[in-house]
Amino acid sequence: EKGGHEYFMLKEIEEQPDALANTLRGHFDGSGIVLDEQRLADQDLRDVDKVFVVACGSAYHSGLVAKYAIEHWTRLPVEVELASEFRYRDPVLDRDTLVVAVSQSGETADTLEAVRHAREQKARVLAVCNTNGAQIPRESDAVLYTHAGPEIGVASTKAFLAQIAANYLVGLALAQARGTKYPDEVAREFAELEAMPAAVRKVLSTTEQVRDLGRRIADSKAVLFLGRHVGFPVALEGALKLKELAYMHAEGFAAGELKHGPIALIEDGLPVVVVMPSPKGRGVLHAKLVSNISEIQARGARTIVIAEEGDDRVRPFADELVEIPAVPTLLQPLVSTVPLQVLAAEIARTRGYDVDKPRNLAKSVTVE
Ligand code: F6R
Repeated sequence: EKGGHEYFMLKEIEEQPDALANTLRGHFDGSGIVLDEQRLADQDLRDVDKVFVVACGSAYHSGLVAKYAIEHWTRLPVEVELASEFRYRDPVLDRDTLVVAVSQSGETADTLEAVRHAREQKARVLAVCNTNGAQIPRESDAVLYTHAGPEIGVASTKAFLAQIAANYLVGLALAQARGTKYPDEVAREFAELEAMPAAVRKVLSTTEQVRDLGRRIADSKAVLFLGRHVGFPVALEGALKLKELAYMHAEGFAAGELKHGPIALIEDGLPVVVVMPSPKGRGVLHAKLVSNISEIQARGARTIVIAEEGDDRVRPFADELVEIPAVPTLLQPLVSTVPLQVLAAEIARTRGYDVDKPRNLAKSVTVE
């Protein structure tokens, strides 16, 4: 059942191209994005004037990634919030607010309570969920299922990538309803998403280097992760994977924050993983990150750089260079997350831990 793998998690990492393809399948009918369930009038989607994404853990990170795309495509303000914070604030919600609740299990207590709170305030709720008929989709006005298949490993991998893709589909559905994207543009974005399973497969074919690196840094005290733009939530996700699987101190930072505190943590030999944006596209961001890397390298950090293949400008600053395929900027998290999952799993295995069942954690958190 583990398909020849030692752990479910390793199998689930390998299944990511299929998880993505299955999540996209059936959600575009040639003229637009199709949700799985819609108990809302189309007009309600058109009237949305603000979006909240609420979720916990990795699902929350998938929302952080999607914010960049949803705002860009729809011109709607998007706030991404931890469900446990959202429900105990007094968020400003009304019938033109769309709350997107992202949950693999569909049973997470805080996310479910956030959904209930939102509906009491008359907000519309759209669930992104991996589990058919779970409580969160049952209590929502619309549902888009991720079809990642059952995820057994406690640490989310394929469900996380599927959540990113599904959140993007929600963004395209909103853009289409609001008319901020023409049908042919939605079709083009969808086609770019459809190219992602092949890109992820390519990353998976080159993970031996990352595993070797994982074995070499497995006895580090801590690992830092830096990213910018969509690479920032990827850094947070990389750090979360390492904490939960390898029980190591790991933290993700927005690279632009370095000088506002985190650079004080840099010391000789500290591994720092940097998620590089493409040198094309937003060239400004690339230059800023190259400058961040040179600063931390000068202070003795061991730089582990995840960069687009052919990115020669970053090469001199990378003690370890992990190459990923060139993909559109907003979609890069779908490829850049994968080496970080492999790295965390390999470090955990090297340290002798069960990567399917990290200590103290449950797959589905149905109590607060
Ligand atoms: C991390 C992880 C958790 C979950 C979180 C939300 O690897 O798996 O952080 O992402 O507990 O779970 P769901 O998506 O089921 O609501």
